[in-house]
Amino acid sequence: MDHMTKPDMDEAARAVLARNDRGGYTVPTDRLYPFQWNWDSAFVAMGFAIFDIDRAYRELERLVEGQWDDGMIPHIVFHAPSDTYFPGPEVWGTRHRIATSGITQPPVFGMALRHVHDAAVAAGRPDAADRTLALFQAALRSHRWWLSARDPHGLGLVSILHPWESGSDNSPAWDEALARVPPTTTTAIRRKDTGHVDPAMRPRDEDYQRFIHLVDVYRDCGWEPARQWAVAPFKIADVQMTGILARSTADLIYLAEALGLEGERAELASMHHALTTGLAGRWRPDLARFVSLDLVSGEDVGAPTQACFMPLVALHVDHTQLQAVEAEIKRWLEGMVVGLPSTAPYSQAFEPKRYWRGPVWAVVNWLLADGLRMNGALELARQIEQSTVSAIERSGFCEYFDPTTGEGLGGDAFSWTAAAYLVLSRRGHGPSAQATRP
Ligand code: GLC
Repeated sequence: MDHMTKPDMDEAARAVLARNDRGGYTVPTDRLYPFQWNWDSAFVAMGFAIFDIDRAYRELERLVEGQWDDGMIPHIVFHAPSDTYFPGPEVWGTRHRIATSGITQPPVFGMALRHVHDAAVAAGRPDAADRTLALFQAALRSHRWWLSARDPHGLGLVSILHPWESGSDNSPAWDEALARVPPTTTTAIRRKDTGHVDPAMRPRDEDYQRFIHLVDVYRDCGWEPARQWAVAPFKIADVQMTGILARSTADLIYLAEALGLEGERAELASMHHALTTGLAGRWRPDLARFVSLDLVSGEDVGAPTQACFMPLVALHVDHTQLQAVEAEIKRWLEGMVVGLPSTAPYSQAFEPKRYWRGPVWAVVNWLLADGLRMNGALELARQIEQSTVSAIERSGFCEYFDPTTGEGLGGDAFSWTAAAYLVLSRRGHGPSAQATRP
Protein backbone atom coordinates (compact mmCIF):
# COMPACT_ATOMS: atom_id res chain seq x y z
CA MET A 1 0.00 0.00 0.00
CA ASP A 2 3.12 2.21 -0.09
CA HIS A 3 1.98 4.08 -3.16
CA MET A 4 -1.35 5.11 -1.67
CA THR A 5 -1.88 8.73 -0.73
CA LYS A 6 -4.17 9.70 2.13
CA PRO A 7 -7.29 10.26 -0.04
CA ASP A 8 -6.68 6.88 -1.71
CA MET A 9 -6.47 5.22 1.67
CA ASP A 10 -9.66 6.91 2.77
CA GLU A 11 -11.36 5.66 -0.35
CA ALA A 12 -9.95 2.17 0.20
CA ALA A 13 -11.22 2.16 3.80
CA ARG A 14 -14.72 3.05 2.61
CA ALA A 15 -14.47 0.36 -0.05
CA VAL A 16 -13.71 -2.25 2.65
CA LEU A 17 -16.84 -1.20 4.55
CA ALA A 18 -18.88 -1.30 1.34
CA ARG A 19 -17.54 -4.72 0.43
CA ASN A 20 -18.41 -6.14 3.85
CA ASP A 21 -21.91 -4.62 3.88
CA ARG A 22 -24.57 -7.33 3.93
CA GLY A 23 -27.62 -5.03 4.01
CA GLY A 24 -27.41 -2.52 6.85
CA TYR A 25 -24.88 -4.49 8.83
CA THR A 26 -21.21 -5.14 8.20
CA VAL A 27 -19.40 -8.46 8.56
CA PRO A 28 -15.92 -8.20 10.12
CA THR A 29 -14.47 -9.81 6.99
CA ASP A 30 -15.76 -12.16 4.32
CA ARG A 31 -15.76 -15.94 5.06
CA LEU A 32 -13.71 -15.97 8.30
CA TYR A 33 -16.41 -13.94 10.13
CA PRO A 34 -19.55 -13.99 7.95
CA PHE A 35 -22.12 -12.56 10.43
CA GLN A 36 -22.64 -9.41 12.51
CA TRP A 37 -20.28 -9.16 15.49
CA ASN A 38 -21.17 -6.97 18.45
CA TRP A 39 -18.16 -4.77 19.20
CA ASP A 40 -16.96 -4.82 15.59
CA SER A 41 -20.22 -3.17 14.59
CA ALA A 42 -19.88 -0.49 17.25
CA PHE A 43 -16.49 0.54 15.85
CA VAL A 44 -17.79 0.29 12.32
CA ALA A 45 -20.70 2.61 13.19
CA MET A 46 -18.19 5.23 14.36
CA GLY A 47 -16.36 4.85 11.06
CA PHE A 48 -19.57 5.25 9.07
CA ALA A 49 -20.47 8.36 11.10
CA ILE A 50 -17.72 10.18 9.24
CA PHE A 51 -19.42 9.93 5.86
CA ASP A 52 -22.85 8.27 6.14
CA ILE A 53 -24.86 8.95 9.28
CA ASP A 54 -27.87 6.98 8.18
CA ARG A 55 -25.71 3.91 7.65
CA ALA A 56 -24.03 4.46 11.04
CA TYR A 57 -27.41 4.35 12.81
CA ARG A 58 -28.41 1.35 10.70
CA GLU A 59 -25.40 -0.64 11.86
CA LEU A 60 -26.46 -0.22 15.49
CA GLU A 61 -30.14 -0.77 14.73
CA ARG A 62 -29.40 -4.07 13.04
CA LEU A 63 -27.27 -5.20 15.98
CA VAL A 64 -30.16 -4.43 18.32
CA GLU A 65 -32.38 -6.77 16.28
CA GLY A 66 -30.41 -9.49 18.03
CA GLN A 67 -30.96 -8.11 21.56
CA TRP A 68 -32.52 -10.64 23.92
CA ASP A 69 -35.59 -9.96 26.04
CA ASP A 70 -33.39 -9.91 29.14
CA GLY A 71 -31.32 -7.08 27.64
CA MET A 72 -28.20 -8.95 26.53
CA ILE A 73 -26.77 -7.94 23.16
CA PRO A 74 -25.18 -11.14 21.82
CA HIS A 75 -21.68 -11.35 20.45
CA ILE A 76 -22.89 -12.65 17.06
CA VAL A 77 -26.15 -12.05 15.22
CA PHE A 78 -26.63 -14.69 12.52
CA HIS A 79 -28.79 -12.60 10.18
CA ALA A 80 -28.21 -14.90 7.19
CA PRO A 81 -26.83 -18.43 6.93
CA SER A 82 -23.23 -19.19 6.06
CA ASP A 83 -21.28 -22.42 6.13
CA THR A 84 -17.84 -20.83 6.49
CA TYR A 85 -17.95 -20.37 10.28
CA PHE A 86 -18.01 -22.62 13.35
CA PRO A 87 -19.76 -22.62 15.84
CA GLY A 88 -22.94 -21.67 13.98
CA PRO A 89 -26.51 -21.26 15.29
CA GLU A 90 -27.10 -25.00 15.73
CA VAL A 91 -24.29 -25.21 18.29
CA TRP A 92 -25.51 -22.25 20.36
CA GLY A 93 -29.12 -23.42 20.44
CA THR A 94 -30.50 -20.08 21.61
CA ARG A 95 -34.16 -19.16 21.46
CA HIS A 96 -34.26 -15.54 20.32
CA ARG A 97 -36.42 -14.70 17.27
CA ILE A 98 -33.26 -14.20 15.19
CA ALA A 99 -30.47 -16.76 15.55
CA THR A 100 -27.69 -15.42 17.77
CA SER A 101 -24.83 -16.72 19.88
CA GLY A 102 -25.49 -17.06 23.62
CA ILE A 103 -22.69 -14.87 24.99
CA THR A 104 -21.86 -11.18 24.67
CA GLN A 105 -18.91 -8.91 23.85
CA PRO A 106 -17.45 -5.59 25.06
CA PRO A 107 -20.21 -2.95 25.19
CA VAL A 108 -18.64 -0.32 22.96
CA PHE A 109 -22.22 0.31 21.84
CA GLY A 110 -22.80 3.25 24.23
CA MET A 111 -19.62 4.99 23.09
CA ALA A 112 -20.58 4.43 19.48
CA LEU A 113 -24.08 5.75 20.01
CA ARG A 114 -22.81 8.99 21.48
CA HIS A 115 -20.38 9.32 18.61
CA VAL A 116 -23.08 8.77 15.98
CA HIS A 117 -25.52 11.06 17.79
CA ASP A 118 -22.99 13.91 17.96
CA ALA A 119 -22.23 13.51 14.26
CA ALA A 120 -25.95 13.48 13.44
CA VAL A 121 -26.60 16.63 15.47
CA ALA A 122 -23.59 18.38 13.93
CA ALA A 123 -24.95 17.51 10.48
CA GLY A 124 -28.37 18.92 11.44
CA ARG A 125 -30.19 15.60 10.94
CA PRO A 126 -33.86 16.01 11.88
CA ASP A 127 -34.16 12.31 12.83
CA ALA A 128 -31.23 12.38 15.29
CA ALA A 129 -33.22 12.57 18.54
CA ASP A 130 -35.69 9.83 17.59
CA ARG A 131 -33.14 7.40 16.28
CA THR A 132 -30.77 8.02 19.17
CA LEU A 133 -33.60 7.60 21.69
CA ALA A 134 -34.58 4.12 20.46
CA LEU A 135 -30.97 2.97 20.56
CA PHE A 136 -30.39 4.65 23.92
CA GLN A 137 -33.22 2.58 25.42
CA ALA A 138 -31.66 -0.59 24.01
CA ALA A 139 -28.27 0.37 25.42
CA LEU A 140 -29.74 1.12 28.84
CA ARG A 141 -31.45 -2.28 28.92
CA SER A 142 -28.17 -3.93 28.04
CA HIS A 143 -26.32 -2.05 30.81
CA ARG A 144 -28.97 -3.18 33.30
CA TRP A 145 -28.38 -6.74 32.08
CA TRP A 146 -24.63 -6.34 32.63
CA LEU A 147 -25.09 -5.25 36.21
CA SER A 148 -27.68 -7.85 37.17
CA ALA A 149 -26.39 -10.84 35.18
CA ARG A 150 -22.67 -10.22 35.44
CA ASP A 151 -22.23 -8.46 38.77
CA PRO A 152 -24.88 -10.07 40.94
CA HIS A 153 -22.84 -9.50 44.12
CA GLY A 154 -22.26 -5.81 43.45
CA LEU A 155 -18.45 -5.82 43.16
CA GLY A 156 -18.54 -2.91 40.75
CA LEU A 157 -16.84 -5.23 38.24
CA VAL A 158 -18.54 -7.22 35.51
CA SER A 159 -17.49 -10.76 34.69
CA ILE A 160 -16.96 -12.74 31.54
CA LEU A 161 -18.03 -16.38 31.53
CA HIS A 162 -16.27 -17.23 28.27
CA PRO A 163 -12.95 -15.95 26.83
CA TRP A 164 -14.76 -15.02 23.60
CA GLU A 165 -16.81 -12.48 25.53
CA SER A 166 -13.68 -10.47 26.26
CA GLY A 167 -13.07 -9.83 22.57
CA SER A 168 -9.47 -10.91 23.29
CA ASP A 169 -10.34 -14.54 22.73
CA ASN A 170 -6.97 -16.22 23.04
CA SER A 171 -5.28 -13.89 25.52
CA PRO A 172 -2.77 -15.36 28.00
CA ALA A 173 -4.91 -13.62 30.63
CA TRP A 174 -7.24 -16.62 30.40
CA ASP A 175 -4.62 -19.39 30.46
CA GLU A 176 -4.81 -20.33 34.13
CA ALA A 177 -8.57 -20.14 34.33
CA LEU A 178 -9.05 -21.99 31.05
CA ALA A 179 -6.71 -24.78 32.14
CA ARG A 180 -9.32 -25.69 34.77
CA VAL A 181 -11.97 -26.12 32.07
CA PRO A 182 -12.16 -29.71 30.80
CA PRO A 183 -11.36 -30.18 27.08
CA THR A 184 -14.33 -32.52 26.65
CA THR A 185 -17.28 -31.54 24.51
CA THR A 186 -20.69 -32.93 23.65
CA THR A 187 -20.64 -30.84 20.48
CA ALA A 188 -18.68 -32.22 17.52
CA ILE A 189 -16.00 -29.66 16.69
CA ARG A 190 -15.61 -28.64 13.07
CA ARG A 191 -13.16 -25.76 13.07
CA LYS A 192 -13.38 -23.53 10.03
CA ASP A 193 -11.02 -20.75 11.11
CA THR A 194 -7.85 -22.76 10.44
CA GLY A 195 -9.00 -23.30 6.85
CA HIS A 196 -9.05 -19.52 6.26
CA VAL A 197 -5.84 -18.41 7.99
CA ASP A 198 -2.54 -19.97 9.07
CA PRO A 199 -3.20 -22.33 12.03
CA ALA A 200 0.03 -21.10 13.65
CA MET A 201 -1.70 -17.78 14.30
CA ARG A 202 -4.91 -19.26 15.69
CA PRO A 203 -5.81 -20.84 19.05
CA ARG A 204 -4.51 -24.34 19.67
CA ASP A 205 -6.94 -27.28 19.33
CA GLU A 206 -7.02 -28.11 23.02
CA ASP A 207 -7.98 -24.55 23.94
CA TYR A 208 -10.62 -24.64 21.24
CA GLN A 209 -12.13 -27.72 22.87
CA ARG A 210 -12.31 -25.86 26.19
CA PHE A 211 -14.04 -22.94 24.45
CA ILE A 212 -16.68 -25.33 23.17
CA HIS A 213 -16.94 -27.10 26.54
CA LEU A 214 -18.06 -23.77 28.01
CA VAL A 215 -20.65 -23.32 25.27
CA ASP A 216 -22.00 -26.81 26.07
CA VAL A 217 -22.27 -25.97 29.78
CA TYR A 218 -24.15 -22.71 29.26
CA ARG A 219 -26.45 -24.14 26.59
CA ASP A 220 -27.37 -26.83 29.12
CA CYS A 221 -28.38 -23.98 31.47
CA GLY A 222 -30.88 -22.83 28.84
CA TRP A 223 -28.78 -19.62 28.63
CA GLU A 224 -30.34 -18.37 31.88
CA PRO A 225 -27.97 -15.86 33.52
CA ALA A 226 -28.47 -17.00 37.15
CA ARG A 227 -27.97 -20.68 36.32
CA GLN A 228 -24.89 -19.92 34.27
CA TRP A 229 -23.44 -17.77 37.02
CA ALA A 230 -23.96 -20.58 39.53
CA VAL A 231 -22.15 -23.26 37.53
CA ALA A 232 -19.65 -21.28 35.44
CA PRO A 233 -16.27 -23.02 35.48
CA PHE A 234 -14.77 -19.82 34.04
CA LYS A 235 -15.64 -16.51 35.69
CA ILE A 236 -13.38 -13.49 35.52
CA ALA A 237 -14.18 -9.98 36.70
CA ASP A 238 -12.47 -8.30 33.79
CA VAL A 239 -10.96 -4.82 33.88
CA GLN A 240 -11.17 -4.38 30.11
CA MET A 241 -14.87 -5.21 30.02
CA THR A 242 -15.61 -3.12 33.10
CA GLY A 243 -13.59 -0.19 31.74
CA ILE A 244 -15.48 -0.23 28.45
CA LEU A 245 -18.83 -0.60 30.22
CA ALA A 246 -18.04 2.30 32.54
CA ARG A 247 -17.00 4.47 29.63
CA SER A 248 -20.13 3.63 27.68
CA THR A 249 -22.14 4.40 30.80
CA ALA A 250 -20.57 7.87 30.90
CA ASP A 251 -21.52 8.32 27.27
CA LEU A 252 -25.09 7.27 27.99
CA ILE A 253 -25.21 9.81 30.83
CA TYR A 254 -24.26 12.46 28.29
CA LEU A 255 -27.04 11.25 25.97
CA ALA A 256 -29.60 11.12 28.80
CA GLU A 257 -28.81 14.76 29.45
CA ALA A 258 -29.04 15.63 25.76
CA LEU A 259 -32.40 13.84 25.52
CA GLY A 260 -33.75 15.30 28.79
CA LEU A 261 -34.16 11.92 30.54
CA GLU A 262 -33.59 12.74 34.20
CA GLY A 263 -34.60 9.39 35.75
CA GLU A 264 -32.37 7.46 33.36
CA ARG A 265 -29.53 9.91 33.95
CA ALA A 266 -29.69 9.30 37.69
CA GLU A 267 -29.81 5.53 37.24
CA LEU A 268 -26.79 5.61 34.92
CA ALA A 269 -24.90 7.89 37.29
CA SER A 270 -25.25 5.35 40.05
CA MET A 271 -24.05 2.55 37.73
CA HIS A 272 -21.12 4.71 36.73
CA HIS A 273 -20.19 5.34 40.34
CA ALA A 274 -20.29 1.62 41.15
CA LEU A 275 -18.18 0.65 38.13
CA THR A 276 -15.54 3.33 38.49
CA THR A 277 -15.18 2.53 42.19
CA GLY A 278 -14.80 -1.17 41.41
CA LEU A 279 -12.22 -0.47 38.72
CA ALA A 280 -10.19 1.90 40.86
CA GLY A 281 -9.72 -0.93 43.37
CA ARG A 282 -8.01 -3.08 40.74
CA TRP A 283 -4.94 -0.82 40.45
CA ARG A 284 -1.69 -2.54 41.43
CA PRO A 285 1.04 0.09 41.99
CA ASP A 286 3.82 -2.53 42.08
CA LEU A 287 2.85 -3.67 38.56
CA ALA A 288 1.91 -0.24 37.19
CA ARG A 289 -1.31 -1.65 35.78
CA PHE A 290 -4.85 -2.71 36.60
CA VAL A 291 -5.55 -6.43 37.07
CA SER A 292 -8.62 -8.59 36.55
CA LEU A 293 -9.91 -10.93 39.26
CA ASP A 294 -10.49 -14.65 38.77
CA LEU A 295 -13.68 -15.29 40.73
CA VAL A 296 -13.20 -19.07 40.70
CA SER A 297 -9.71 -19.08 42.26
CA GLY A 298 -10.00 -15.72 44.02
CA GLU A 299 -6.61 -14.74 42.51
CA ASP A 300 -5.53 -11.67 40.56
CA VAL A 301 -4.93 -12.33 36.87
CA GLY A 302 -1.21 -11.68 36.53
CA ALA A 303 -0.68 -11.82 32.75
CA PRO A 304 0.44 -8.45 31.37
CA THR A 305 -1.99 -7.75 28.50
CA GLN A 306 -3.54 -4.70 26.87
CA ALA A 307 -6.58 -5.16 29.13
CA CYS A 308 -4.55 -3.86 32.07
CA PHE A 309 -4.56 -0.33 30.61
CA MET A 310 -8.14 -0.29 29.41
CA PRO A 311 -9.57 1.27 32.62
CA LEU A 312 -8.01 4.56 31.45
CA VAL A 313 -10.88 4.85 29.00
CA ALA A 314 -13.21 5.35 31.98
CA LEU A 315 -11.14 6.57 34.92
CA HIS A 316 -9.40 9.84 35.64
CA VAL A 317 -6.28 8.46 37.27
CA ASP A 318 -4.05 10.52 39.56
CA HIS A 319 -0.70 11.94 38.55
CA THR A 320 1.38 9.12 40.05
CA GLN A 321 -0.74 6.44 38.38
CA LEU A 322 -0.58 8.22 35.05
CA GLN A 323 3.20 8.51 35.20
CA ALA A 324 3.48 4.82 36.08
CA VAL A 325 1.14 3.76 33.28
CA GLU A 326 2.95 5.92 30.73
CA ALA A 327 6.31 4.46 31.76
CA GLU A 328 4.95 0.92 31.57
CA ILE A 329 3.37 1.47 28.14
CA LYS A 330 6.64 2.96 26.85
CA ARG A 331 8.44 -0.12 28.13
CA TRP A 332 6.11 -2.32 26.06
CA LEU A 333 6.75 -0.14 23.01
CA GLU A 334 10.55 -0.37 23.17
CA GLY A 335 11.95 -2.02 20.05
CA MET A 336 8.49 -2.50 18.49
CA VAL A 337 7.70 -1.36 14.96
CA VAL A 338 4.05 -0.89 15.90
CA GLY A 339 2.48 -0.84 19.36
CA LEU A 340 0.76 -1.58 21.62
CA PRO A 341 1.36 -5.34 21.72
CA SER A 342 -1.58 -7.26 23.19
CA THR A 343 0.86 -9.05 25.51
CA ALA A 344 3.96 -7.45 27.04
CA PRO A 345 7.02 -8.32 24.93
CA TYR A 346 8.97 -9.15 28.10
CA SER A 347 6.42 -11.81 29.07
CA GLN A 348 7.06 -15.50 28.42
CA ALA A 349 3.57 -15.68 26.90
CA PHE A 350 4.50 -13.18 24.16
CA GLU A 351 4.01 -14.58 20.63
CA PRO A 352 4.03 -11.75 18.09
CA LYS A 353 1.93 -13.58 15.50
CA ARG A 354 -0.54 -15.62 17.52
CA TYR A 355 -4.01 -14.39 18.20
CA TRP A 356 -4.16 -12.00 21.19
CA ARG A 357 -0.78 -13.15 22.49
CA GLY A 358 1.26 -10.29 21.12
CA PRO A 359 -0.21 -8.83 17.91
CA VAL A 360 -1.54 -5.29 17.73
CA TRP A 361 -5.21 -4.53 17.07
CA ALA A 362 -6.12 -1.13 15.62
CA VAL A 363 -9.33 -0.91 17.66
CA VAL A 364 -7.55 -1.68 20.91
CA ASN A 365 -5.18 1.17 20.12
CA TRP A 366 -8.14 3.40 19.41
CA LEU A 367 -9.57 2.74 22.88
CA LEU A 368 -6.21 3.02 24.61
CA ALA A 369 -5.44 6.28 22.85
CA ASP A 370 -8.85 7.62 23.93
CA GLY A 371 -8.05 6.66 27.50
CA LEU A 372 -4.64 8.34 27.35
CA ARG A 373 -6.16 11.46 25.79
CA MET A 374 -8.86 11.59 28.43
CA ASN A 375 -6.12 11.51 31.05
CA GLY A 376 -4.03 14.19 29.36
CA ALA A 377 -1.27 11.92 28.00
CA LEU A 378 -1.58 13.44 24.55
CA GLU A 379 1.87 12.72 23.26
CA LEU A 380 1.73 9.00 23.97
CA ALA A 381 -1.81 8.87 22.59
CA ARG A 382 -0.59 10.50 19.35
CA GLN A 383 2.30 8.08 19.11
CA ILE A 384 -0.05 5.09 19.35
CA GLU A 385 -2.53 6.59 16.89
CA GLN A 386 0.14 7.46 14.35
CA SER A 387 1.84 4.12 14.53
CA THR A 388 -1.53 2.45 13.94
CA VAL A 389 -2.26 4.62 10.94
CA SER A 390 1.22 4.00 9.50
CA ALA A 391 0.93 0.24 10.00
CA ILE A 392 -2.35 0.26 8.07
CA GLU A 393 -0.84 2.43 5.34
CA ARG A 394 2.08 0.01 5.00
CA SER A 395 0.28 -3.33 5.32
CA GLY A 396 -3.38 -2.71 4.52
CA PHE A 397 -6.62 -3.19 6.46
CA CYS A 398 -5.54 -6.42 8.13
CA GLU A 399 -7.13 -8.01 11.15
CA TYR A 400 -4.02 -7.36 13.26
CA PHE A 401 -0.28 -6.63 13.03
CA ASP A 402 2.92 -8.25 14.20
CA PRO A 403 4.36 -5.62 16.58
CA THR A 404 7.97 -6.66 15.89
CA THR A 405 7.76 -6.25 12.11
CA GLY A 406 4.55 -4.34 11.36
CA GLU A 407 3.46 -7.21 9.10
CA GLY A 408 -0.31 -7.46 8.57
CA LEU A 409 -1.84 -10.76 9.72
CA GLY A 410 -5.08 -12.72 10.05
CA GLY A 411 -8.01 -11.84 7.81
CA ASP A 412 -7.64 -9.00 5.31
CA ALA A 413 -10.10 -6.28 4.24
CA PHE A 414 -11.20 -6.07 7.85
CA SER A 415 -14.06 -3.72 8.68
CA TRP A 416 -12.96 -2.46 12.07
CA THR A 417 -9.44 -1.78 10.83
CA ALA A 418 -10.97 0.33 8.05
CA ALA A 419 -13.13 2.16 10.60
CA ALA A 420 -10.11 2.71 12.86
CA TYR A 421 -8.22 4.17 9.91
CA LEU A 422 -11.03 6.59 9.06
CA VAL A 423 -11.22 7.83 12.65
CA LEU A 424 -7.56 7.78 13.73
CA SER A 425 -6.17 9.32 10.56
CA ARG A 426 -8.36 12.38 11.28
CA ARG A 427 -7.10 12.90 14.82
CA GLY A 428 -5.20 16.11 15.40
CA HIS A 429 -2.84 17.02 18.19
CA GLY A 430 -5.38 18.45 20.65
CA PRO A 431 -7.68 16.39 22.90
CA SER A 432 -10.46 15.05 20.69
CA ALA A 433 -14.07 15.84 21.54
CA GLN A 434 -14.55 12.13 21.97
CA ALA A 435 -12.09 11.94 24.78
CA THR A 436 -13.31 14.68 27.13
CA ARG A 437 -15.85 12.99 29.35
CA PRO A 438 -17.06 12.78 32.94
C1 GLC B 1 -12.24 -12.53 16.84
C2 GLC B 1 -11.80 -11.47 17.84
C3 GLC B 1 -13.01 -10.70 18.32
C4 GLC B 1 -13.75 -10.12 17.13
C5 GLC B 1 -14.07 -11.19 16.08
C6 GLC B 1 -14.60 -10.61 14.80
O1 GLC B 1 -13.06 -13.48 17.42
O2 GLC B 1 -11.09 -12.03 18.90
O3 GLC B 1 -12.63 -9.67 19.20
O4 GLC B 1 -14.91 -9.49 17.53
O5 GLC B 1 -12.89 -11.89 15.77
O6 GLC B 1 -13.74 -9.65 14.28
